[in-house]
Amino acid sequence: MRAAIYPGSFDPVHLGHLDLIQRADKLVDRLVVAVLHNPDKKAAFTVEERMAMLHELTASMPKVEVASFDGLLVDFVKRQNAHLIVRGVRAFSDFEYEFQMALMNRKLAPELETMFLMPKEKYSSVSSKLVREIGHFGGDLKELVPEMLRSRIADRLSGRA
Ligand code: PNS
Repeated sequence: MRAAIYPGSFDPVHLGHLDLIQRADKLVDRLVVAVLHNPDKKAAFTVEERMAMLHELTASMPKVEVASFDGLLVDFVKRQNAHLIVRGVRAFSDFEYEFQMALMNRKLAPELETMFLMPKEKYSSVSSKLVREIGHFGGDLKELVPEMLRSRIADRLSGRA
């Protein structure tokens, strides 16, 4: 069984993340979308809220699970009996950070592999950071986040909820 972990902050999940989940879902037998629990970082959504949104979004995808983790990613991957880490690369600007992280994870756990997937071009400029900023100023999130979550995300980011 080929199991993969797709880790991230997902604060909040956006259409680029969903595109990546759908791509990875086709390649593996089990995909764990893993939300980093980082108490040092101020987040717009709690880990529970982020997980709930991911659950809703992937409810029709039987191979996808949602989990949270803290500590080192490689330790979580091993605890899940997985050998594959999935990460998205949108542009060259992502590459340096992703390359560094993948090589460091390889140093820590040589038996694990990182697989990079590219989201659809139209999502190459979508990031959680930009979603938070646009939402904060009441901008339109239509092309950025999944429709079923849009009003919830917009309300939180604009301070309405
Ligand atoms: O969506 P993000 O914020 O870019 O995801 C980053 C994430 C969660 C993949 C990364 O910060 C991570 O793996 N954190 C866990 C701690 C860890 O293992 N650090 C060493 C990475 S080389």
